[in-house]
Amino acid sequence: MRALSRSMMVGIFITFCFSIQNSTHRRQDDGQGQRDSLFSSSAIAGNSNGNPDQLPGLQYDFYREACPEAEFVIRKTVQDFVTKRSDVAPGLLRLAFHDCFVQGCDASVLLDSREGAPSEKEASANKNSLRGFDVIDAVKERLEHLCPLTVSCADIVALSARDAIFLTGGPFYPLSTGRRDGRVSRAATAEAQLPSPFDTLAAILAAFNERGLHQNDTITLLGAHTIGHTHCRFVQSRLYNFSGDGSPDPTMNSTLAESLKLICPEDDDEEADMDGRTKLPMDFGGHDTFDSHFYQNVVEGYGVLYADQQLMASAATANLVVDYAIDSDLFRREFARAMVKLSSVGVLTGSQGEVRRDCRRLLEDEPTGLNGG
Ligand SMILES: *[C@@H]1O[C@H](CO)[C@@H](O)[C@H](O)[C@H]1NC(C)=O
Ligand SMILES: *[C@@H]1O[C@H](CO)[C@@H](O)[C@H](O)[C@H]1NC(C)=O
Ligand SMILES: *[C@@H]1O[C@H](CO)[C@@H](O)[C@H](O)[C@H]1NC(C)=O
Repeated sequence: MRALSRSMMVGIFITFCFSIQNSTHRRQDDGQGQRDSLFSSSAIAGNSNGNPDQLPGLQYDFYREACPEAEFVIRKTVQDFVTKRSDVAPGLLRLAFHDCFVQGCDASVLLDSREGAPSEKEASANKNSLRGFDVIDAVKERLEHLCPLTVSCADIVALSARDAIFLTGGPFYPLSTGRRDGRVSRAATAEAQLPSPFDTLAAILAAFNERGLHQNDTITLLGAHTIGHTHCRFVQSRLYNFSGDGSPDPTMNSTLAESLKLICPEDDDEEADMDGRTKLPMDFGGHDTFDSHFYQNVVEGYGVLYADQQLMASAATANLVVDYAIDSDLFRREFARAMVKLSSVGVLTGSQGEVRRDCRRLLEDEPTGLNGG
């Protein structure tokens, strides 16, 4: 296990406070009303100079009295899974991202569909590809034994991603807790709001910006692609006849294009890949560890996803990519800061929402007989 020196912790904590100052905003609704417009700029504007002591109900070590073991149990459970399967860490990171991006970090992504009402899980960006639900369930089960109805699923998602990053060699960041679980989860909302790997850079920057994540935060968060895999169907169009002249995407390094063509043949039928048999590392040639190799790749035209490679398309974004490619420590610091910011997007706190017993369903949807169990 990696040890954190005290001075490092202090440094991280200072970074943390600074980022909180710039990131949090208060949600005014009660978690049950109209939430689709939650990320309108008005919901975020005007809070950039907030005092770090006035978080929207989030507190450092929120569970210190009600469930002092909570963070330890989460860390331990995530560690058990991460050591067993290599897809767990990137899966938990993506889960947190997909949660926070749609209606805020409220665990809405964990809810199963109700009859006639498909949940976020059914959106195309999530269906058959989102992972980590088993980890969250295992954590929640342990916590329900220790301290029933206390630790929110939203906090479990945010803390599990934090721990997964750290366990794969990424930075550690203290995270405030006290998030509450949302009561709304709609497939259509996720469908409309989650960015796609085919999106233009402008569209991606705009989508992040709506959630209070500015250009540099976005470039930094895309660095999450240092771990994890994608599939041929998300890359195929870049390899063959990209702009109708029979050649690959000119922004892709030709050496990479040749390598990927071998892995993803043109006539590969998409169905065969639907189960994700062909796994392409998004950080091609990198290790399964958390580092800034991804940015070195992007500089050399080795970005596997169109969305990633576009970071080199404008000077405004390319400068920071080059900075990160050169300075891995800078990336780690900024990534920690950006994750804190992402983890506080649109949170429910105080008496908003609820704390679920089972992360997959609302309290009101629990089968009778479970209550009081
Ligand atoms: C490439 O795409 C263009 C336009 O869609 C089409 O006319 C052409 O036949 C394609 N070429 C190949 C080699 O598939
Ligand atoms: C393509 O990749 C090679 C390394 O494989 C690198 O030396 C070269 O500079 C890259 N080309 C461009 C245009 O970035
Ligand atoms: C974003 O990153 C670039 C490149 O490092 C830097 O010049 C710029 O000042 C940063 N912008 C902000 C708002 O931090």
